[in-house]
Amino acid sequence: MNYASPSVRLAHLHKAYGKTVAVEELSLEILPGEIFGLIGPDGAGKTTVMRIVAALTLPDGGQAEVMGHDVATHPMRVKEHIGYMPQRFSLYPDLTVAENLRFFADLYKVPTAERIVREQRLMQFSRLGPFRKRRAAQLSGGMKQKLALACTLMHTPEVLILDEPTTGVDPLSRQEFWAILRELAASGQALLVSTPYMDEALLCHRVALMHNGRVLTAGQPHDIPAHFKHRLLEIVAGDVPRARKRLLTCGPAGIQVSRFGDRLHVVYGTADQERQIRSCLAEESAEIFTVPPSIEDTFVTLMHEGSSR
Ligand SMILES: Nc1ncnc2c1ncn2[C@@H]1O[C@H](COP(=O)(O)OP(=O)(O)OP(=O)(O)O)[C@@H](O)[C@H]1O
Ligand SMILES: [Mg+2]
Repeated sequence: MNYASPSVRLAHLHKAYGKTVAVEELSLEILPGEIFGLIGPDGAGKTTVMRIVAALTLPDGGQAEVMGHDVATHPMRVKEHIGYMPQRFSLYPDLTVAENLRFFADLYKVPTAERIVREQRLMQFSRLGPFRKRRAAQLSGGMKQKLALACTLMHTPEVLILDEPTTGVDPLSRQEFWAILRELAASGQALLVSTPYMDEALLCHRVALMHNGRVLTAGQPHDIPAHFKHRLLEIVAGDVPRARKRLLTCGPAGIQVSRFGDRLHVVYGTADQERQIRSCLAEESAEIFTVPPSIEDTFVTLMHEGSSR
């Protein structure tokens, strides 16, 4: 069998800022054509990992390689192979879409003839063609992110590092944005994408769930729920906050109650606890279902266990 060598290889990475451990014992590999998602809440360590891969922050320990180049010893080589879209990407608000692209082409020293071809391709690809003369300041949130991505792609990097590219973007634009990422992966690029949105985990080929600098679990998104080792009930109640309060006051100790939109998910361990949960809600107009755990249930539970250790 022919195994491609990984585009990104991280081994036992460690990074601390004073007493804050931002990344601990993190190892992962990303293959060409793969979208790898780093999923985690604020402060999980996602940006720190990405800055290390982009050769902008040195790790304190462990090893990080991009296309076979070590970030610590060959940072300039690494930078030739990557496109990095930071969490707060700075477009030039007074420049138009086309001028922003041209600015990045100059920055990356893309020869003119090549720039013209790439610009056309990126305009088409990002569907920003009709807006090429619009100033960046006047674009919608989703369009700004697409333009930022197009700027990042100007020098055709093999590895793309996108830090929360869809945060604050409306659901339709998020879908479009992910369709573009799938196209990029299909063309052979390796993508490292961070997101706080659990639904986006399902759009990645593999994900790592991060919390407090550590990977809680990693794998193909559909395999993650296999790590859920508890029992789960879904509660649909007329008054969700009241049902939640009730469970927390009269439900059994040690259960975990999370709100998922208009329903509650209750994680528990024993048949006895289930009886208590049901009797505690007997006077509420609540329907109770047994449901399979989702990736989000798994993450919430693993995070809870990680915090209470
Ligand atoms: N330059 C820095 N100096 C000090 N502490 C830092 C620095 N950068 C990050 N940290 C800390 O390291 C931890 C991880 O931060 P990081 O920005 O990597 O998380 P994140 O997952 O990207 O979070 P967010 O979702 O808020 O972007 C946090 O506790 C953060 O406060
Ligand atoms: Mg971040």
